Amino acid sequence: MENISRRRILLSGGALLGVNALSVLNPLSNPLFAAEIIPRPFELVRADKNENPYGPSRVALQAINEGMDLTNKYGGGSRRKLVELIAKQNGVTSDHIAIGTGSGEILKTGGLIASWEKGSVVCVDPTYQDLVRYASRVGTEIIRVPVDENLACDLNAVAAAIRSDTKMVYLVNPNNPIPNIINKDALRDFVLEVSKDRLVFIDEAYYEFVENPEYGSMIDLIAEGHRNIIVARTASKIHGLAGLAVGFGFAHPDQIKQIRELRTGKNNILGIEAAYASYQDQEFQDYTRRQNKESLKIVEEMFNELNVRFIKSNANFTFFETGIPVQEINTSLLEYGIASGRPFPPFTMWSRVSMDKPEHMRYYVQTFKKLFGNRIMDSTS
Ligand SMILES: Cc1ncc(COP(=O)(O)O)c(C=O)c1O
Repeated sequence: MENISRRRILLSGGALLGVNALSVLNPLSNPLFAAEIIPRPFELVRADKNENPYGPSRVALQAINEGMDLTNKYGGGSRRKLVELIAKQNGVTSDHIAIGTGSGEILKTGGLIASWEKGSVVCVDPTYQDLVRYASRVGTEIIRVPVDENLACDLNAVAAAIRSDTKMVYLVNPNNPIPNIINKDALRDFVLEVSKDRLVFIDEAYYEFVENPEYGSMIDLIAEGHRNIIVARTASKIHGLAGLAVGFGFAHPDQIKQIRELRTGKNNILGIEAAYASYQDQEFQDYTRRQNKESLKIVEEMFNELNVRFIKSNANFTFFETGIPVQEINTSLLEYGIASGRPFPPFTMWSRVSMDKPEHMRYYVQTFKKLFGNRIMDSTS
């Protein structure tokens, strides 16, 4: 009991009073007025969209500046050089790569290819929705395979869900909103087997953040000459270029040809120039990874302190069990200038938190503990 009280006092934080205490002192302390009572140190903490708060890098910004002069033209610029660079960095040829307006365009094109002849797409649930939502809208049935008890992808269950009419299996690795990975050897075996009869689409949007030795890209299989495998990557995440929409699809040259024919977008020159500069800038990626780890450490400390279950992150966001409806949490946090991840059913008592800068995440932790710390402690003690 004494122990709990001491932890509670710690949780309420020195400078910030708990909501209940504030209510007694000041009727305006109704959470609706909280934004006016508690000074916000930041305009908005962006803990909701898995962005890179440091991007674009300085070299990318310089390339954007220099690219301004090219914006009156069709074509030109570093497009070909960008494809060659990405090919070299990933051990494939330029013919194995399609550029997209974000990886989102590659995902949608993949969804369209899978829907060509009516059939089904198998995916894990929950996962990123772009591909399956699009496939569903163009007439494909989506078979969702729930994550296992560790909230991980169960490849055996995914294999068992494949039907004779299944045209594609879509796997996100690391997954989103649950940032865990699939073991590289198990995934390689799975992809080789399943791609004999249907497409396997691996979404590696968070590839550059992963440091887990059990992780591996499936681009290697494409480099080895295998067909029916598409891998997507993006400049939106570690490169911090989400607003310029540059992504890549990797596949056998025949399938790349098909993707190029079906895509409807057109990359703008500034995105191409920025990506060409950014993919050569290792220092910026290292910096982002270091800072991301620092931010994750701050929130993970809170999870341990509150004794809540969380999924060890392999990306720039994390996922933890609140035991409180996430919609309620998000509404309250927003009053304090914090945008937090939307609900991901059926995990409506879990929250996805994207990493902003460490100073933002300290404020997030301080605010979260103040608003919900005692409630969570009561339910977990
Ligand atoms: C797993 C995953 N794939 C793809 C995307 C889309 O990225 P892009 O900005 O390249 O369209 C996202 C964006 O959040 C994502 O989380």
